Amino acid sequence: MSRIVISGASGDLGRRVTRLLLNEEPDAELTLVTRTPEKLADRTGPGIAILKGDYRDRESLDAAYSGADTLFLISGLNLGRRVSEHRNAIDAAERAGIRHIVYTSVGGGGLPNNPALSAKDHYRSEQDLQSSGIAYTILRNHLYAEIVSKIWITPAVESGRLEMATGEGFLSPVAKGDVARSAAAVLREPERHGGAIYEITGPELLSMRDIVRIGSEVHGVPIEYRPVTAEERLAHFDSIGIPRTYDPAMPLSAAGHMWASDELVSADLAAAEGFQAILTHQVKLITGREPEPLRAVMERVKSVRYDQIDDDAA
Ligand SMILES: NC(=O)c1ccc[n+]([C@@H]2O[C@H](COP(=O)([O-])OP(=O)(O)OC[C@H]3O[C@@H](n4cnc5c(N)ncnc54)[C@H](OP(=O)(O)O)[C@@H]3O)[C@@H](O)[C@H]2O)c1
Repeated sequence: MSRIVISGASGDLGRRVTRLLLNEEPDAELTLVTRTPEKLADRTGPGIAILKGDYRDRESLDAAYSGADTLFLISGLNLGRRVSEHRNAIDAAERAGIRHIVYTSVGGGGLPNNPALSAKDHYRSEQDLQSSGIAYTILRNHLYAEIVSKIWITPAVESGRLEMATGEGFLSPVAKGDVARSAAAVLREPERHGGAIYEITGPELLSMRDIVRIGSEVHGVPIEYRPVTAEERLAHFDSIGIPRTYDPAMPLSAAGHMWASDELVSADLAAAEGFQAILTHQVKLITGREPEPLRAVMERVKSVRYDQIDDDAA
């Protein structure tokens, strides 16, 4: 394995992938890039370099990516603005002579009419990557099963109902551990995955009613699913103080996330319109391991806050 840059290394996915690569090869040559290197002060190892890099600051990326062969480009959070941020990262990779980029996209991200705001960004970044001339692998990560478990179901256990603008849509939620294992496997042998666009899904395609039934069974309480309109869903987010648009300075929500309601409601509509109804067996193909079903994830994270899930063993 040659030097890999993990860009976004201080976040949850970056930490998981770093851990997996080091578990397999303690001397792995990894450059861990973040805007806040102090967050990674506890991460040491013979091949580890921790460097500052900001997707908005091209010079910082030039310094951070130099000397590496592969870039794990973990997508940024700045909805709308991140297309240019990712373009900065791709350009810096080219100047640094990086030979392969592994990019985290979103489930259904290749469908140009996907109404999810996040998919629109990813679609453009995927196109930038594909026209860059650098070898690439795209991981279209479907909705995290941990989000379904903690952000959707946990509040519904309290209220007895789940009201979303997801209509009668279908999804295949995937455990974060399976996303991280898939990324680590691709990063270990990027040439085996050159040009691949993987839809990283869980093991089952579930309707919203299936998801609510599983939640009811795991928590032992009845939960009703009630599809609502986009306007009703936005009004709900307004009532609990979630901003309409993303602001990097916004505080964490009570559930421990930093998403704006325009992004969340557009994701609901994408599910309602069938853009999330995708099931593949690519996690097994890439990792050799069956992905974890939603029910097992829900049991595992039942009593943990979303932002405190850190499942080393999963
Ligand atoms: N499939 C899903 O359900 C789902 C759900 C949520 C998110 N996602 C996507 O998956 C990605 C990874 O998820 P995660 O859980 O690891 O997110 P996370 O914990 O919030 O981490 C985000 C990472 O991106 C870095 N970052 C943000 N803005 C940056 C910038 N301008 N320049 C350089 N680095 C920047 C952060 O580092 P510093 O702040 O230290 O610089 C951090 O390391 C997210 O970025 C998001 O696009 C997917």
